[in-house]
Amino acid sequence: MTIRKLAVVTAGLGVPSSSRLLADRLAAATGAALREREVRAEIDVEVEVIELREHGHELVDAVLTGFVTPALRKALDAVAGADGLITVTPIFSASYNGLFKLFLDALEEGALDGKPTLIAATGGTGRHSLALEHAVRPLMAYLHAVAVPTAVFAAPEDWAGGATGVPALDRRIARAAGELADLVAQSPAAAAPDPFADPVPFEQLLRGD
Ligand SMILES: Cc1cc2nc3c(=O)[nH]c(=O)nc-3n(C[C@H](O)[C@H](O)[C@H](O)COP(=O)(O)O)c2cc1C
Repeated sequence: MTIRKLAVVTAGLGVPSSSRLLADRLAAATGAALREREVRAEIDVEVEVIELREHGHELVDAVLTGFVTPALRKALDAVAGADGLITVTPIFSASYNGLFKLFLDALEEGALDGKPTLIAATGGTGRHSLALEHAVRPLMAYLHAVAVPTAVFAAPEDWAGGATGVPALDRRIARAAGELADLVAQSPAAAAPDPFADPVPFEQLLRGD
């Protein structure tokens, strides 16, 4: 049995949240694409959705004090230990929102190194769809994540029916999910972060460094 872990990070503030809706659609499409690619082996796709809205206060405390609560630790570890990552941010002022950036700032250095990642966003206008390319993609490049070529942006008109509505969004979701599944299927399974892997030497602890 092959287990593939997907972490899904969504930074929407609304209740209900269009970013969460897009995140769920992307996760379902990626899970289906992964199962298609592993026809000969049994595969279990584990999906962990991280609603950053629920960690907002903890994130501010973490960046101010360095103290990470158990719930936030679980979310950070889910991302670090995932085989693939899906991120969805609402676009605020033509960029990712502050909550999204706070979470990425709270990740340990190297947590996204080589991580297959699908970047997505929701916005109030289709005119800001390129924020994914000029803001989110460079940020992911800095963090050494491997972002798939197709980024998915959903504006209000994309959720509606019609010639340029839902079918076009469905196609983009399927294409991006297929690209992420290809990358995840090619990669060895990610190891869960081990908090005891790099212990501080005892002599150093005694010295109080
Ligand atoms: C403070 C603020 C700034 C925003 N700025 C933009 C913007 O620059 N471009 C845009 O397309 N949408 C903008 N929006 C709209 C949100 O991106 C949009 O409503 C998003 O889908 C909300 O996601 P959610 O439902 O997951 O919270 C802004 C919304 C807020 C609250």
